[in-house]
Amino acid sequence: MMILGVGTDIVEVERFKDKPELCKRFLSAKEFEYIDKFRFKEEHVAGFWAAKEALVKALNDRNFNFSEISVLHDENGKPFFEGVNVDGRIHLSISHERKFAVAFVVWEK
Ligand SMILES: CC(C)(COP(=O)(O)OP(=O)(O)OC[C@H]1O[C@@H](n2cnc3c(N)ncnc32)[C@H](O)[C@@H]1OP(=O)(O)O)[C@@H](O)C(=O)NCCC(=O)NCCS
Repeated sequence: MMILGVGTDIVEVERFKDKPELCKRFLSAKEFEYIDKFRFKEEHVAGFWAAKEALVKALNDRNFNFSEISVLHDENGKPFFEGVNVDGRIHLSISHERKFAVAFVVWEK
């Protein structure tokens, strides 16, 4: 196994507050479903944006339609990508506070 790429991104949560049109451009239906249960949705939305930007950096490939990729969660809440077709494995970590969200992606093969 070797690491082929890493990517990270930080975003301001405020950018995603009450921005339904922006959200429609990069969130998948499954992500809308996930954020529905949270009161401060924008923190999660910002995390998903950061995750997708970090993915672009890790793969060094801009050729993604963000709304066709989903950040999903396993039974423990750990996030992972669905809809990314690459050779190897993608690891994803997300964190957010009230003002900022960050994500880190590792591409391993
Ligand atoms: C899961 C946990 C690490 C999340 O940390 P947090 O500081 O609450 O929240 P953060 O903003 O840093 O991270 C939130 C993100 O972590 C990710 N996450 C959640 N559960 C996760 C898990 N089991 N593994 C990896 N990532 C996880 C998610 O992507 C989540 O964001 P999202 O729901 O918007 O996608 C934390 O809630 C936890 O369970 N800690 C265990 C340690 C503990 O309980 N300590 C208290 C001892 S007194």
